[in-house]
Amino acid sequence: MAGNEKTTSSHTGKKRSTFSGKLGYVLAVAGSAVGLGNIWRFPYLAAKYGGGIFLLTYLILMLTFGYALIVSETALGRMTKKSPVGAFQAFSEKLPFKLGGWINAVIPMLIVPYYSVIGGWVVKYLFEYLRGGTQVLAQDDYFTGFISDGISAEVWFLLFSLVVIVVLFAGVKHGVERVSKVMMPLLVILAVFVAGYSMTRPGALEGVKYFLIPNFENFSWMTVVAAMGQMFYSLSIAMGILYTYGSYMKKEVDIEQSTAQVEIFDTGIAMLAGLMIIPAVFAFSGGDPDTLQAGPSLMFITIPKVFASMGFGTGAGIMFFLLVLLAALTSAISLAESGVSTFEDQLGLSRHKATVLMGVIMVLLGSASALGFGVLDFVKVIGMSILDFFDFLTNSLMMPVAALATCLLVTRVAGLDQVIQEVEQSSRFKRKKMYCFFMKYLAPICIVIILLSSIANVFGWITM
Ligand code: PFF
Repeated sequence: MAGNEKTTSSHTGKKRSTFSGKLGYVLAVAGSAVGLGNIWRFPYLAAKYGGGIFLLTYLILMLTFGYALIVSETALGRMTKKSPVGAFQAFSEKLPFKLGGWINAVIPMLIVPYYSVIGGWVVKYLFEYLRGGTQVLAQDDYFTGFISDGISAEVWFLLFSLVVIVVLFAGVKHGVERVSKVMMPLLVILAVFVAGYSMTRPGALEGVKYFLIPNFENFSWMTVVAAMGQMFYSLSIAMGILYTYGSYMKKEVDIEQSTAQVEIFDTGIAMLAGLMIIPAVFAFSGGDPDTLQAGPSLMFITIPKVFASMGFGTGAGIMFFLLVLLAALTSAISLAESGVSTFEDQLGLSRHKATVLMGVIMVLLGSASALGFGVLDFVKVIGMSILDFFDFLTNSLMMPVAALATCLLVTRVAGLDQVIQEVEQSSRFKRKKMYCFFMKYLAPICIVIILLSSIANVFGWITM
C-alpha cells in the first residue's frame, strides 16, 4: 500500500499516512485484492458451482452488494481515520458493535495462515519448474501425492511464511509493493497468453461455454453462498482491510469511481484465470465432473498439464508460478500487516512483539492446515480438512457476520446520511438510491439467509 503513501495531519491531530492520490489508492487496493483469490480460488469455485451461472451470480453480487459494502467500509474508514476496531468504537461503545469491529479485524489473522499454505504449494511448483520437472508436475496424482506425503507441504509453507514475516520485520513492504506493480502487468500479459493457448486446445471450447454461458440447471443455493464468499474474499471486503485503506484516503478522491476501478481490475483478472483453467479442464479431461469438482487442487492439476503440452512449457511454468507467487506474497503481507497493526493499536504491543505474535499464529494455524492433508489427515472438523474448515469458517461464517456488522453500523448508528456526506465530499453520489436500498433492506436480509443456509448445509440439515 505504502508505495504511494505520504503523511498528513488528520482531524485527530495525529499524523496519519495518506495515499498520494486516486491512482495511489486504486493501485494499493488492487494490489491487495489481486491474489490467490483471483487465480486459484475463483476458477475452482466457478468450475464447481455451475460455470456460467456462478459467474453471473458473482457479477450481480459484486456490482450491487459488493459495491455498497466497499463504499461503506471505505467511507467509514476515511471518516474516522481508523482501522476497523477503532472505526466501530468511534461510533458505538456497545458490545455488539465492539464485537463487529473485532470480527472484521480477526478475519485476516485467520486467513493468512492457510493462505500461506497455498503460497507454499506455489513455491514448491515454482521450484519444480526451475528443476525442469514440467512433465512430472503434469502427472495425474502428483499434487495429491505432494500434499499428503508427510511433511513436505509443511516445509514449503514455512518457507513462504518466513518470507512474509521477514518482510514485516524488515519493513521492506514498500519495496515489495513497488515490485508487484511492475509484475502485475506481466501477470496480465502472461495470463492473456496462457488463456489464449488453453482456449484453443481441442475440446476447450466446451469449457469456454461452460464458464461464460449461464445454465440455470446448474444453479443451486450453494452457487449464491459460494459466490458471495468469493466476492468478499477477492475484493478484500468484510475483513477490515478497506476501513484501513479508506483511513489513508484523501478527501478529494472519488470513492465511487475508485471502487468501480478496483472491481473491474479484480474481476478482469479472475475472469482471465477462469479462461486459463476451465477450458483446460475440458481439453484435458473432457469436462469430467470429478475434475470439475476438484476444488482447491484444480489450479495445481490443470495448469501443469497445459504447460506440459506446450513447446516452451518449462519457461511458461516458471513465469506463471513466479507471478502467482508475487501476487500471493503481496496479498499475504497485507493480510498479516493488518493483523500486526491491530495488535499494535489494540493490545499496545510494540511492532516487534506484534509481528512475533502474528508469526506464531501463522505457524500454528498454518501448520495444522498444511499437515491436514498429510499426517493430520485423520482430523476432520465438521467433515472438512483443516484448511477447508478455515476457509469455510472465515468466508462462509465470519465474513457474512462482519458484513452484517458494517450494514448495521451504517444504518443504525452512523446513519446513511453520514456515509453519503462522506462520499459527496469529492463527487456526486451517482448510485445513491441503489446504495441506500441495498444497505437498508437487501444486504442485511441476504446476509442472514445466506449465513443460516451455509450453517444448515454444513450440518446436513439441508442439502444445497
Ligand atoms: N483479496 C485477496 C485475494 O483475492 O487473494 C486476499 C486478500 C489479500 C484479502 C489481502 C485481504 C487482504 F488484505
